[in-house]
Amino acid sequence: MITSTENKSWRKNSLNNKPLTVNLVGLKLANPTMLASGILGYSAETFESIVEGGAAAIVTKSIGLKPREGYANPTIVQADYGLINAMGLPNPGISEYVKEIREAKAFLHIPLIVSVYGYSAEEYKTIAKKAAEAGADAVELNVSCPHVKETGSEIGQNPKILAEVVRKVKTAIDKPVFVKLSPNVTSIEEIASAATKAGADALTAINTVKAMAIDAETAVPILSNRVGGLSGPAIKPIAVRCVYEAYESVKVPIIGCGGIANWRDAVEFMLAGASAIQIGTAIATKGTNIFKTVTHGISVYLRKKGFKSVEEIVGVSHRK
Ligand code: DHB
Repeated sequence: MITSTENKSWRKNSLNNKPLTVNLVGLKLANPTMLASGILGYSAETFESIVEGGAAAIVTKSIGLKPREGYANPTIVQADYGLINAMGLPNPGISEYVKEIREAKAFLHIPLIVSVYGYSAEEYKTIAKKAAEAGADAVELNVSCPHVKETGSEIGQNPKILAEVVRKVKTAIDKPVFVKLSPNVTSIEEIASAATKAGADALTAINTVKAMAIDAETAVPILSNRVGGLSGPAIKPIAVRCVYEAYESVKVPIIGCGGIANWRDAVEFMLAGASAIQIGTAIATKGTNIFKTVTHGISVYLRKKGFKSVEEIVGVSHRK
Protein backbone atom coordinates (compact mmCIF):
# COMPACT_ATOMS: atom_id res chain seq x y z
CA MET A 1 0.00 0.00 0.00
CA ILE A 2 1.43 3.37 -0.96
CA THR A 3 0.78 6.19 1.53
CA SER A 4 -0.02 9.62 0.22
CA THR A 5 3.36 11.06 1.31
CA GLU A 6 5.24 8.29 -0.41
CA ASN A 7 3.10 8.81 -3.42
CA LYS A 8 3.93 12.51 -3.53
CA SER A 9 7.65 12.01 -3.15
CA TRP A 10 7.46 9.43 -5.89
CA ARG A 11 5.77 11.93 -8.14
CA LYS A 12 8.54 14.42 -7.51
CA ASN A 13 11.03 11.78 -8.55
CA SER A 14 8.94 10.97 -11.53
CA LEU A 15 9.12 14.55 -12.74
CA ASN A 16 12.89 14.31 -12.50
CA ASN A 17 12.71 10.96 -14.27
CA LYS A 18 14.65 9.41 -11.41
CA PRO A 19 12.67 6.16 -11.23
CA LEU A 20 14.02 5.38 -14.67
CA THR A 21 17.74 5.76 -14.00
CA VAL A 22 19.88 2.64 -13.87
CA ASN A 23 23.37 2.25 -12.46
CA LEU A 24 24.77 -0.51 -14.64
CA VAL A 25 28.06 -1.63 -13.09
CA GLY A 26 29.01 2.01 -12.62
CA LEU A 27 27.64 3.25 -15.95
CA LYS A 28 24.97 5.84 -15.29
CA LEU A 29 21.99 5.33 -17.57
CA ALA A 30 19.25 7.97 -17.68
CA ASN A 31 16.79 5.21 -18.60
CA PRO A 32 17.05 1.43 -19.13
CA THR A 33 17.18 1.48 -22.96
CA MET A 34 20.37 0.97 -24.98
CA LEU A 35 21.18 0.60 -28.68
CA ALA A 36 22.02 -3.06 -29.43
CA SER A 37 25.18 -3.88 -31.33
CA GLY A 38 25.05 -4.43 -35.05
CA ILE A 39 22.01 -2.61 -36.24
CA LEU A 40 23.38 0.76 -37.28
CA GLY A 41 26.67 2.01 -38.71
CA TYR A 42 29.80 2.82 -36.83
CA SER A 43 30.06 6.53 -37.24
CA ALA A 44 29.80 9.29 -34.71
CA GLU A 45 27.05 10.89 -36.87
CA THR A 46 24.70 7.91 -36.73
CA PHE A 47 25.06 7.94 -32.95
CA GLU A 48 23.54 11.43 -32.81
CA SER A 49 20.17 10.20 -34.09
CA ILE A 50 20.23 7.42 -31.49
CA VAL A 51 20.86 9.95 -28.71
CA GLU A 52 18.03 12.13 -30.01
CA GLY A 53 15.81 9.05 -30.08
CA GLY A 54 16.32 8.65 -26.34
CA ALA A 55 18.80 5.80 -25.93
CA ALA A 56 20.70 5.89 -22.62
CA ALA A 57 23.77 4.07 -24.01
CA ILE A 58 25.16 2.90 -27.32
CA VAL A 59 26.76 -0.41 -28.23
CA THR A 60 28.77 -0.20 -31.48
CA LYS A 61 28.96 -2.77 -34.25
CA SER A 62 31.53 -5.47 -33.56
CA ILE A 63 35.12 -4.44 -34.19
CA GLY A 64 37.98 -6.83 -34.95
CA LEU A 65 41.74 -6.49 -35.06
CA LYS A 66 41.95 -6.04 -38.83
CA PRO A 67 39.58 -4.51 -41.39
CA ARG A 68 37.09 -7.03 -42.75
CA GLU A 69 34.84 -6.66 -45.80
CA GLY A 70 32.12 -9.06 -44.77
CA TYR A 71 30.06 -11.32 -47.02
CA ALA A 72 28.68 -10.66 -50.51
CA ASN A 73 24.99 -9.79 -50.93
CA PRO A 74 22.37 -10.87 -50.06
CA THR A 75 23.29 -10.35 -46.41
CA ILE A 76 19.81 -9.85 -45.01
CA VAL A 77 16.44 -11.49 -45.53
CA GLN A 78 13.04 -10.73 -44.07
CA ALA A 79 11.51 -13.62 -42.16
CA ASP A 80 8.06 -13.84 -40.58
CA TYR A 81 8.34 -11.67 -37.46
CA GLY A 82 12.03 -10.94 -37.83
CA LEU A 83 15.15 -10.57 -39.93
CA ILE A 84 17.88 -13.06 -40.74
CA ASN A 85 21.25 -11.44 -41.35
CA ALA A 86 24.73 -12.62 -42.18
CA MET A 87 26.85 -9.53 -42.82
CA GLY A 88 30.06 -11.34 -41.95
CA LEU A 89 31.25 -8.88 -39.30
CA PRO A 90 32.27 -6.11 -41.71
CA ASN A 91 34.31 -3.46 -39.89
CA PRO A 92 37.23 -1.07 -40.37
CA GLY A 93 39.51 -2.73 -37.79
CA ILE A 94 40.35 -1.32 -34.36
CA SER A 95 43.30 0.88 -35.45
CA GLU A 96 40.98 2.83 -37.72
CA TYR A 97 38.00 2.65 -35.38
CA VAL A 98 39.76 4.29 -32.42
CA LYS A 99 39.35 7.59 -34.33
CA GLU A 100 35.57 7.11 -34.37
CA ILE A 101 35.58 6.28 -30.66
CA ARG A 102 37.52 9.45 -29.83
CA GLU A 103 35.28 11.56 -32.08
CA ALA A 104 32.09 10.11 -30.60
CA LYS A 105 33.35 10.54 -27.04
CA ALA A 106 33.99 14.22 -27.70
CA PHE A 107 30.27 14.95 -28.01
CA LEU A 108 28.43 11.95 -26.53
CA HIS A 109 26.98 12.45 -23.07
CA ILE A 110 25.88 8.84 -22.76
CA PRO A 111 28.04 5.72 -22.24
CA LEU A 112 29.66 4.24 -25.35
CA ILE A 113 30.20 0.50 -25.25
CA VAL A 114 32.42 -0.99 -27.93
CA SER A 115 31.53 -4.47 -29.19
CA VAL A 116 34.61 -6.60 -29.80
CA TYR A 117 35.23 -9.87 -31.65
CA GLY A 118 38.48 -11.77 -32.12
CA TYR A 119 39.92 -15.09 -33.21
CA SER A 120 41.79 -15.72 -29.95
CA ALA A 121 41.82 -14.56 -26.33
CA GLU A 122 44.89 -12.47 -27.16
CA GLU A 123 43.06 -10.71 -30.00
CA TYR A 124 40.02 -9.93 -27.84
CA LYS A 125 42.41 -8.49 -25.28
CA THR A 126 44.31 -6.30 -27.76
CA ILE A 127 41.13 -4.87 -29.30
CA ALA A 128 39.44 -4.29 -25.93
CA LYS A 129 42.55 -2.50 -24.63
CA LYS A 130 42.71 -0.18 -27.65
CA ALA A 131 38.97 0.54 -27.39
CA ALA A 132 39.25 1.34 -23.67
CA GLU A 133 42.29 3.57 -24.21
CA ALA A 134 40.39 5.48 -26.92
CA GLY A 135 37.61 6.20 -24.41
CA ALA A 136 35.11 3.34 -24.55
CA ASP A 137 33.15 3.28 -21.28
CA ALA A 138 32.85 -0.51 -21.43
CA VAL A 139 33.36 -3.35 -23.90
CA GLU A 140 30.86 -6.01 -24.92
CA LEU A 141 32.46 -9.25 -26.05
CA ASN A 142 30.76 -10.72 -29.10
CA VAL A 143 31.24 -14.40 -28.33
CA SER A 144 27.96 -15.26 -29.98
CA CYS A 145 27.87 -14.34 -33.69
CA PRO A 146 26.24 -17.54 -34.98
CA HIS A 147 28.04 -18.00 -38.30
CA VAL A 148 31.56 -16.53 -38.68
CA LYS A 149 34.14 -19.30 -38.40
CA GLU A 150 36.61 -19.41 -35.49
CA THR A 151 35.04 -16.52 -33.60
CA GLY A 152 31.66 -15.60 -32.09
CA SER A 153 29.65 -18.59 -30.92
CA GLU A 154 32.57 -20.96 -31.57
CA ILE A 155 34.09 -19.22 -28.55
CA GLY A 156 30.91 -18.54 -26.59
CA GLN A 157 29.64 -22.13 -26.83
CA ASN A 158 32.75 -23.48 -25.09
CA PRO A 159 32.91 -22.55 -21.38
CA LYS A 160 36.68 -23.10 -21.15
CA ILE A 161 37.62 -20.99 -24.17
CA LEU A 162 35.08 -18.35 -23.16
CA ALA A 163 36.54 -18.14 -19.65
CA GLU A 164 40.04 -17.70 -21.08
CA VAL A 165 38.85 -14.83 -23.31
CA VAL A 166 37.08 -13.06 -20.43
CA ARG A 167 40.05 -13.48 -18.05
CA LYS A 168 42.49 -12.09 -20.62
CA VAL A 169 40.32 -9.06 -21.35
CA LYS A 170 39.80 -8.42 -17.63
CA THR A 171 43.56 -8.31 -17.00
CA ALA A 172 44.01 -5.71 -19.75
CA ILE A 173 41.34 -3.09 -18.97
CA ASP A 174 39.75 -1.54 -15.93
CA LYS A 175 36.43 -0.77 -17.63
CA PRO A 176 33.36 -3.02 -17.29
CA VAL A 177 33.32 -6.10 -19.49
CA PHE A 178 29.95 -7.31 -20.80
CA VAL A 179 29.67 -10.75 -22.34
CA LYS A 180 27.00 -11.21 -25.02
CA LEU A 181 25.62 -14.71 -24.76
CA SER A 182 24.51 -17.03 -27.54
CA PRO A 183 21.09 -18.68 -27.34
CA ASN A 184 22.50 -21.47 -29.51
CA VAL A 185 23.71 -23.53 -26.55
CA THR A 186 22.47 -26.51 -24.56
CA SER A 187 22.77 -24.76 -21.20
CA ILE A 188 22.82 -20.98 -20.95
CA GLU A 189 23.29 -21.36 -17.17
CA GLU A 190 26.61 -23.15 -17.71
CA ILE A 191 27.88 -20.49 -20.12
CA ALA A 192 26.62 -17.61 -17.95
CA SER A 193 28.39 -19.06 -14.90
CA ALA A 194 31.63 -19.62 -16.81
CA ALA A 195 31.63 -16.00 -18.01
CA THR A 196 30.95 -14.53 -14.57
CA LYS A 197 33.42 -16.79 -12.75
CA ALA A 198 36.04 -15.56 -15.22
CA GLY A 199 35.19 -11.96 -14.26
CA ALA A 200 32.43 -10.73 -16.57
CA ASP A 201 30.85 -7.62 -15.00
CA ALA A 202 27.53 -8.04 -16.82
CA LEU A 203 25.90 -10.34 -19.36
CA THR A 204 23.92 -9.38 -22.45
CA ALA A 205 21.30 -11.98 -23.34
CA ILE A 206 20.88 -12.78 -26.19
CA ASN A 207 22.59 -12.55 -29.57
CA THR A 208 20.78 -13.82 -32.69
CA VAL A 209 19.43 -17.34 -33.20
CA LYS A 210 21.14 -19.36 -35.95
CA ALA A 211 18.73 -19.55 -38.87
CA MET A 212 18.31 -19.82 -42.63
CA ALA A 213 15.83 -19.19 -45.45
CA ILE A 214 15.51 -20.95 -48.82
CA ASP A 215 13.80 -19.66 -51.97
CA ALA A 216 11.17 -22.29 -52.82
CA GLU A 217 11.19 -21.37 -56.55
CA THR A 218 14.92 -21.75 -57.12
CA ALA A 219 15.77 -24.00 -54.15
CA VAL A 220 18.68 -21.65 -53.41
CA PRO A 221 19.50 -20.57 -49.84
CA ILE A 222 18.84 -16.82 -49.84
CA LEU A 223 21.79 -15.51 -47.85
CA SER A 224 25.14 -15.69 -49.62
CA ASN A 225 26.51 -17.29 -46.44
CA ARG A 226 23.50 -19.65 -46.38
CA VAL A 227 23.06 -19.36 -42.59
CA GLY A 228 22.66 -16.21 -40.55
CA GLY A 229 21.28 -14.85 -37.28
CA LEU A 230 17.54 -14.37 -36.66
CA SER A 231 16.53 -11.24 -34.73
CA GLY A 232 13.26 -9.41 -34.04
CA PRO A 233 9.95 -10.43 -32.41
CA ALA A 234 10.38 -14.08 -33.49
CA ILE A 235 13.17 -14.58 -30.93
CA LYS A 236 11.68 -12.66 -28.00
CA PRO A 237 10.29 -15.68 -26.10
CA ILE A 238 13.65 -17.44 -26.46
CA ALA A 239 15.46 -14.36 -25.16
CA VAL A 240 13.10 -13.96 -22.19
CA ARG A 241 13.68 -17.61 -21.26
CA CYS A 242 17.47 -17.14 -21.53
CA VAL A 243 17.39 -14.03 -19.29
CA TYR A 244 15.20 -15.91 -16.79
CA GLU A 245 17.60 -18.87 -16.69
CA ALA A 246 20.75 -16.73 -16.54
CA TYR A 247 19.24 -14.71 -13.66
CA GLU A 248 18.89 -17.93 -11.65
CA SER A 249 22.55 -18.83 -12.10
CA VAL A 250 24.53 -15.55 -11.79
CA LYS A 251 24.62 -12.46 -9.57
CA VAL A 252 25.88 -9.90 -12.13
CA PRO A 253 23.42 -7.63 -13.96
CA ILE A 254 21.84 -8.97 -17.13
CA ILE A 255 21.04 -6.78 -20.11
CA GLY A 256 18.04 -8.14 -22.01
CA CYS A 257 18.14 -8.18 -25.80
CA GLY A 258 16.11 -9.94 -28.47
CA GLY A 259 12.97 -8.73 -30.20
CA ILE A 260 12.10 -5.83 -27.92
CA ALA A 261 9.73 -3.55 -29.82
CA ASN A 262 7.58 -1.86 -27.15
CA TRP A 263 7.41 -1.08 -23.42
CA ARG A 264 5.58 -4.31 -22.60
CA ASP A 265 8.41 -6.35 -24.12
CA ALA A 266 10.94 -4.32 -22.11
CA VAL A 267 9.01 -4.86 -18.87
CA GLU A 268 8.77 -8.60 -19.60
CA PHE A 269 12.58 -8.80 -19.83
CA MET A 270 12.96 -6.87 -16.58
CA LEU A 271 10.52 -9.10 -14.73
CA ALA A 272 12.59 -12.04 -16.02
CA GLY A 273 15.74 -10.47 -14.56
CA ALA A 274 17.10 -7.81 -16.93
CA SER A 275 18.48 -4.62 -15.30
CA ALA A 276 18.50 -2.81 -18.66
CA ILE A 277 17.50 -3.67 -22.22
CA GLN A 278 18.89 -3.29 -25.73
CA ILE A 279 16.89 -2.53 -28.86
CA GLY A 280 18.11 -3.33 -32.37
CA THR A 281 15.85 -4.72 -35.09
CA ALA A 282 12.79 -2.69 -34.02
CA ILE A 283 14.61 0.50 -35.06
CA ALA A 284 14.16 -0.66 -38.66
CA THR A 285 10.38 -0.81 -38.27
CA LYS A 286 9.70 1.89 -35.68
CA GLY A 287 12.52 4.41 -36.09
CA THR A 288 15.00 5.79 -33.59
CA ASN A 289 12.34 7.38 -31.34
CA ILE A 290 11.53 3.89 -30.09
CA PHE A 291 13.87 4.48 -27.13
CA LYS A 292 11.70 7.40 -25.94
CA THR A 293 8.46 5.52 -26.54
CA VAL A 294 9.64 2.44 -24.64
CA THR A 295 10.99 4.56 -21.76
CA HIS A 296 7.70 6.45 -21.48
CA GLY A 297 5.77 3.17 -21.41
CA ILE A 298 8.00 1.77 -18.66
CA SER A 299 7.49 4.94 -16.66
CA VAL A 300 3.69 4.69 -16.91
CA TYR A 301 3.85 1.00 -15.96
CA LEU A 302 5.95 1.73 -12.84
CA ARG A 303 3.56 4.44 -11.72
CA LYS A 304 0.43 2.35 -12.33
CA LYS A 305 1.85 -0.61 -10.43
CA GLY A 306 3.21 1.51 -7.57
CA PHE A 307 6.91 0.79 -8.13
CA LYS A 308 9.41 3.52 -7.31
CA SER A 309 12.22 2.48 -9.61
CA VAL A 310 13.15 0.21 -12.48
CA GLU A 311 15.31 -1.74 -10.04
CA GLU A 312 12.21 -2.81 -8.11
CA ILE A 313 10.82 -4.82 -11.02
CA VAL A 314 14.04 -6.65 -11.94
CA GLY A 315 13.51 -10.39 -11.47
CA VAL A 316 10.03 -10.07 -9.88
CA SER A 317 8.74 -13.09 -11.85
CA HIS A 318 11.14 -15.34 -9.99
CA ARG A 319 9.16 -14.72 -6.83
CA LYS A 320 5.77 -15.51 -8.41
C1 DHB B 1 26.50 -10.86 -37.58
C2 DHB B 1 27.07 -10.76 -36.32
C3 DHB B 1 26.34 -11.15 -35.20
O1 DHB B 1 26.84 -11.08 -33.94
C4 DHB B 1 25.05 -11.61 -35.36
O2 DHB B 1 24.37 -11.98 -34.27
C5 DHB B 1 24.49 -11.71 -36.60
C6 DHB B 1 25.22 -11.33 -37.72
C7 DHB B 1 27.28 -10.48 -38.79
O3 DHB B 1 28.08 -9.55 -38.77
O4 DHB B 1 27.09 -11.16 -39.80
